[in-house]
Amino acid sequence: MDDFVLARVVHVLGVVLWIGGVAFVTLVLLPALRRQLQAGQNVENPAVLFERLEGRFAWQARLTTLLTGASGLYMLYVLDAWDRYGDPGQWWLWAMTVIWLIFTLMLFVFEPLFLHRWFEARARDKPASTMALIQRLHWVLLTASLITVAGAVAGSHGG
Ligand code: HEM
Repeated sequence: MDDFVLARVVHVLGVVLWIGGVAFVTLVLLPALRRQLQAGQNVENPAVLFERLEGRFAWQARLTTLLTGASGLYMLYVLDAWDRYGDPGQWWLWAMTVIWLIFTLMLFVFEPLFLHRWFEARARDKPASTMALIQRLHWVLLTASLITVAGAVAGSHGG
């Protein structure tokens, strides 16, 4: 297996673990927590419970974001394909880069700096609307990520 193929394998494994986790949080974990909240079964701040349950995934997401970004940049370097950023037909390359940047900022900058505290404080006052907001944000990120994956697979294979 040459370096480029290895980078592609790492890239796709990273994407599977990362976006798969986002799908689980969006489609399974958040709806379950919101149902619990609606049924009045919550004994603690739902945002705190969410952070605790999602805590392990946050580390998985940080690691896989790094692996996906590094392997993607390595592939671009080997292909010497920087000029593809100027080709509108290869929009998916921009989509990958922008999605990567959004998640990187969220996981490494915004969340540790203020987002974590802001959500926790807001959830204490307005638990239901905060959980709805968190779920909406996850839906937007998941939808954009899936469109990106579809575009990247089709685009990388001549679609
Ligand atoms: C800085 C961030 C990223 C860079 C520089 C990057 C770069 C690349 C490159 C150069 C390729 C190979 C293109 C080709 O063979 O013609 C690729 C493939 C791919 N990328 Fe990314 N990528 C990045 C982030 C992402 C993200 C965030 C996702 C998912 C949301 C993603 C999903 C994919 C997929 C699914 C493929 C196709 C793999 C295949 O079917 O062989 N990438 N990426």
